[in-house]
Parts: sequence; structure tokens; C-alpha cells
Amino acid sequence: MLQKKIVLLFIATLFIMNEYSFINAKELSEMEVKKIAKEAIKNVGGKLKHTLMQKVKNDGVASAADFCSSEAGKLAKEASKTLPEGVSVKRITNKPRNSINKATIENLKVLSTIELKMKEGKTPAMVVRKLSNNHYQVYKPLVIGKNCLNCHGDSSTRNKQAYQIIQKKYPNDKAIGYKKGELRGAFLVDIKR
Ligand code: HEC
Repeated sequence: MLQKKIVLLFIATLFIMNEYSFINAKELSEMEVKKIAKEAIKNVGGKLKHTLMQKVKNDGVASAADFCSSEAGKLAKEASKTLPEGVSVKRITNKPRNSINKATIENLKVLSTIELKMKEGKTPAMVVRKLSNNHYQVYKPLVIGKNCLNCHGDSSTRNKQAYQIIQKKYPNDKAIGYKKGELRGAFLVDIKR
């Protein structure tokens, strides 16, 4: 009798485990993926942008440049710790200032499709890539606004003092020469389930 109970319990456990792993491996809809990505970007990117703009406002562009060069990485890392398990956020670009943000060939393909859309006059939208049933990537385009020119513009639009500081920190800087409205790169959110 006891033996029979144990066998039944065993079968029930197997059944539940199977159900559970089935739920776990469930595919995400595009809407779910975008929602996770937006939340993650809000956490990490929002923190970066907020601090940067506050610095520019309170202490000027040069001091903000100094801050970006030394603290931005740390700040992004701190904010990343608050993301759900399996979710990570980084910035990628074809013209990196910090070489850790250099786009891969795969990234470059997506960036150029975004750029093409922009040339057709469309507003750049998020791109969702499904790598497998439990692995997704989301690209959120980053477009150059007026403020960005201070540190990413050409010699006529850059803030000279700020750029001196940046150039010292990043002698191989490629992230200049931009005009307002151009694609600067993207937030890349990686989601593994
Ligand atoms: C005060 C100067 C300053 C301003 C203003 C500024 N940036 Fe940057 N930006 C930097 C610095 C410095 C880095 C390198 C940070 C690092 O090492 O992680 C950087 C890095 C980046 C990167 C990561 C890719 C790379 O090249 O390493 C992106 C994307 C970016 N900036 C976009 C923008 C956008 C979009 C704006 C406007 C909303 C902006 N930046 C405004 C100074 C600035």
C-alpha cells in the first residue's frame, strides 16, 4: 500500500515538473519582449541620461564630460544589478568612443536596417530579434539631439572645453562629427529565459 502511494507520488512529481519546465520554456510574445526591454532601458538608460542632464544643468558641459568619462560606466553597472535575472542592457555603436561599446557584425546589420528606415523618413522604432525560443534581443535606436552635439558634434557644434577633457580620456574617439537627427547607436537589451 505504501509502495503504491510512493509510486503515485513519484508520477505526480514528474507530471508537475514537466508542466513547470513547459511553462518556463514558454515563448515570449513580441509585446512581452518589448515590455521587458523598455523596463530595463528605463532603469539603466534613464539613470544615465538623468544624471548626465543634471550635471550639464548644474555644473556645465565640461564637468559633465568629466563625469561621463569616469563615472558613467560605474553608474550603468550599478543600475544593471537591479535588472531581472537573464536581462542585460548595453549601448552599441558603429562609431565608438569607448571601445567596449563597439557593435558586432550582427549588431551592425541591425543598425543599418534602422538607418535605412530613417532615410525613408520613418521614425526609428525598436527592433526585436528572436535568437531562440528562450533568447531575445531588442535594439532601441539612439538618435542625436541638440544637447548631444556638445560632446558628439563636429568642430563647429562641440563644446571646446568639454571635448578637450573627452579627447584626453579617449584618444581613439570615433563618436564625433554627428549632426542632429542622425543615428548614434542603440541600447541593446539581451533577454534569456
Ligand atoms: C557631456 C558630454 C556628453 C554629452 C552631452 C553626451 N555624451 Fe554620449 N558619451 C560621452 C562620453 C564621455 C561617453 C563615453 C562613456 C563611456 O566610456 O562609457 C559617451 C558615450 C556614449 C554612447 C556609448 C557608445 C560609445 O561611443 O562609447 C552613446 C550611445 C552616447 N554617448 C550617446 C549620446 C546621446 C544620444 C547623447 C544626447 C542625448 C549624448 N551621448 C550626450 C559624453 C557625452
